[in-house]
Amino acid sequence: MQTRFVRTLTFLGVIAMSLVACDTPDTSSPPAAPAAVQSAAQPAPQPSVSLAGRVVVAHRGASGYLPEHTLPAKAMAYAMGADYVEQDVVMTKDDQLIVIHDTTLDRTTDVAEKFPGRARADGQHYAVDFTLEEILTLNVTEGFSVENGQKTLNYADRFPLGKSIFKVHTLAQEIELIQGLNHSTGKDIGIYPEIKSPAFHLSEGKDLGAAVLAVLKQYGYTGKTDKAFVQTFEFDELKRLHDEVMPALGVDLKLVQLLDGGDENLWMQTEDGVRQIAQYADGLGPEKSMIIDSESTPDNLRISQLVNYAHANGLQVHPYTFRADSDQVPAYATSFEHMLELFYVNAQVDGVFTDFTDRAVEFLRSH
Ligand code: G3P
Ligand code: CA
Repeated sequence: MQTRFVRTLTFLGVIAMSLVACDTPDTSSPPAAPAAVQSAAQPAPQPSVSLAGRVVVAHRGASGYLPEHTLPAKAMAYAMGADYVEQDVVMTKDDQLIVIHDTTLDRTTDVAEKFPGRARADGQHYAVDFTLEEILTLNVTEGFSVENGQKTLNYADRFPLGKSIFKVHTLAQEIELIQGLNHSTGKDIGIYPEIKSPAFHLSEGKDLGAAVLAVLKQYGYTGKTDKAFVQTFEFDELKRLHDEVMPALGVDLKLVQLLDGGDENLWMQTEDGVRQIAQYADGLGPEKSMIIDSESTPDNLRISQLVNYAHANGLQVHPYTFRADSDQVPAYATSFEHMLELFYVNAQVDGVFTDFTDRAVEFLRSH
């Protein structure tokens, strides 16, 4: 059994390495760290720092290589050695939980062709307007944009459009895949579900947070020692999960507050804000420019105090999203691996969300 797994791992590793594009410096201008975050020039990398216990979270699966949030992408990430596999969760019209990043189906499926006339006024097709049976008729692809009627990959070097066959699946099906692999390999890889747009779901009459936690409980994730983190961007939902939903279900899972760059959420990056979050959460999931300022240069790495604030309050820090595609490595780093070093070693993060699990796993193994 183990031998077969190792063979599979090797096979997928070879596939993965053959698909990875070369790193090029970031030319896109990601958002700078907000003024509310204190920054300072930092010393050179300290390669002697122990990285034991640091984790790799497979962001939407092995999404650098296979269409995001598909079961093949999850199996590949598992085989590459991820510590946790991420699930973004959305609810359907008939209250089923599906694993998909957007509340709409347009960026990653052929819903526009299969269900003409079912878009809302904004032109988007919302998962909450479709039954699971309808959604299962869709084909899933790597994320794309439509210009002049033509679909174009959002990441040009990723899995091509229109090739092979991929489908949407439920949260339960994905948990069964991971738990099944844990059984057959003897490993204990975790799950990392995100409650997507909880306020939107509540406005549609759907309590997504409670439904996700109920499924987790059904599959044995009930306490902080279980291999699961539950994440959300909305602080009100984090508090509600902590104060109401978990006690009602009799569970006490690890919660992660995600941080975006929105003006209304800048307080989350302050010392007092982190202290407040720590009353409810076990971890922070910030956009990575909140930790290392995007305007940093190789000679002037500007690391914020966010990780220090978090660690002082007992919170783990898992920033997102680490990508190796062209233009996705910031100019202050010379390569994807150098970017990982700056975050794991210099900034002392506890884990990263990455589309390229194999490369982050290899980085940690070799340091
Ligand atoms: O949940 C961490 C990271 O995935 C947040 O970004 O938009 O990819 O869900 P997003
Ligand atoms: Ca996510």
